[in-house]
Amino acid sequence: MASATIASATPVLSVRNIEKSFPGVRALSGVSFDVAEGEAHALLGENGAGKSTLIKIVSGVFPPDRGEVIVDGKAVHLERPDDARRVGIATIYQELLLFPELTVAENIFMGHAPRGGFGRVDWRAMREKTKELLASLEIHDLDPDRVVGALSVGNRQRVEILRALSHEARILIMDEPTAALTEYDVRRLFDIVRKLKARGVAVIYISHKLDEIFAIADRVTVLRDGAHVATKRVAETDSAELVQLMVGRKIESLFPKITVPIGEPVLEVKDLVRRPLTKGVSLTVRAGEIVGLAGLVGSGRSELAQTIFGVTPAEGGEIKIRGKKVDIRSPGQARTLGIAYVPEDRGAQGLVRPMTVRENFSLAALGKVAFGGFIDRALERKLAGDGVKRFSVKTSSLEQVAGKLSGGNQQKIVLGKWLANQPKLLILDEPTRGIDVGAKAEIHRLMGELAAQGLAILMISSELPEVLGMSDRVLVMREGRIVAEFTREQATQEAAGAAMMGGQGVEQAA
Ligand SMILES: Nc1ncnc2c1ncn2[C@@H]1O[C@H](COP(=O)(O)OP(=O)(O)OP(=O)(O)O)[C@@H](O)[C@H]1O
Ligand SMILES: [Mg+2]
Repeated sequence: MASATIASATPVLSVRNIEKSFPGVRALSGVSFDVAEGEAHALLGENGAGKSTLIKIVSGVFPPDRGEVIVDGKAVHLERPDDARRVGIATIYQELLLFPELTVAENIFMGHAPRGGFGRVDWRAMREKTKELLASLEIHDLDPDRVVGALSVGNRQRVEILRALSHEARILIMDEPTAALTEYDVRRLFDIVRKLKARGVAVIYISHKLDEIFAIADRVTVLRDGAHVATKRVAETDSAELVQLMVGRKIESLFPKITVPIGEPVLEVKDLVRRPLTKGVSLTVRAGEIVGLAGLVGSGRSELAQTIFGVTPAEGGEIKIRGKKVDIRSPGQARTLGIAYVPEDRGAQGLVRPMTVRENFSLAALGKVAFGGFIDRALERKLAGDGVKRFSVKTSSLEQVAGKLSGGNQQKIVLGKWLANQPKLLILDEPTRGIDVGAKAEIHRLMGELAAQGLAILMISSELPEVLGMSDRVLVMREGRIVAEFTREQATQEAAGAAMMGGQGVEQAA
């Protein structure tokens, strides 16, 4: 699929010998690479390799310590994001920066709306221009007058892309754009990327998903520990080589499922109700068992997890923990009962960003490190140190502020801190989102080990291969209900996919 012709002689964008350090970390040590007109160029690397730092420099978020950014053969000084925009660089971050109460058209033309007489915003012209932009990408299902807050994540992302195009961006940068997208939205995004390429726009694309790189990119640049390792044509490489370049070693197989004896039920849920999304759910998870919960975004999986964990206590139905009926009204109570919950949104719920790595690790295990009001610092440091080692968290020290770590390393801390508590039931919501292949294999291996020790695991994941690869049993949720159950042997991509969509088959999903 990747087009082999990269025409123009002068690259639209080059970076030369970029260096950047943060206190205690050398994030980039002399990185160079080029992007050609009409090319999709992927950036690949382990968590903390320096990908986001590199694109923040190109986007004018902060300056490099050394090195140059060159656009159309001329060195540019990017002091702030506006400078980057002026030379045609637009960046779409994972946290979309839109105004939810404004319309699609208003968001696209925020700050540069067409003006009529007396400098007033010309609403008609704005709507017309929005329609032109939509038409140019053959998007027919997005209404310029819709309020953005009412749109799906995938559609909001399209609005951001349109906004970038309204600024005549010639270089579009996307940092893990598909992390929170459904498969359907990913396909629509790729359609747009192909159209942009055909128009000569250069796209820089960060992703941990190798299959996406093979689907959309022309070339891929691999970073390791802040250094440039290789730039390859996608048509001339394969996943094995890319992984090897990324981690500098071979990775054991993904999804190393080990079969362990299944024990007594740890969690039994019956007819659980919590409006508006949980509409009568029954399920059981046994000791040693990994139960995968598949479903589309919005099917109610995370809401179910939050109800079991007492964030949004149940309004009806029954929960039993190890055979005993319980009434969970708060997360604190859930923890006391031996439940751990790793939420999907590590930013809002999982990680205390201003606290240090050490404090974050000990927070969930306070019962173990605090005695009579005193915290055992030595034990705390040991716990955190072990956690950092076990999950290969890339941090300059235990005293690093957790919010400054790279995205994937933050996720590893969230996981690690919950396991420090030795729970009986572990609920994982998208445990490997944003995690690089090496760390992902680690986390999967760890899940297997924990199950072997008798832990019951309920795993929510939007990645079907992960669900199918890791689970003893697969449940499919749709519109607040469990609509299908498969044994490990029965569970196939087609069967689970069809149940997720409501039996219409994957292709027709909207
Ligand atoms: N503002 C900051 N202050 C201190 N350290 C930082 C800051 N931003 C990034 N770092 C560090 O720089 C290194 C590179 O981080 P970066 O976010 O670029 O990684 P990444 O390749 O995007 O990783 P991921 O795949 O996890 O998103 C990491 O060690 C990170 O902790
Ligand atoms: Mg990043």
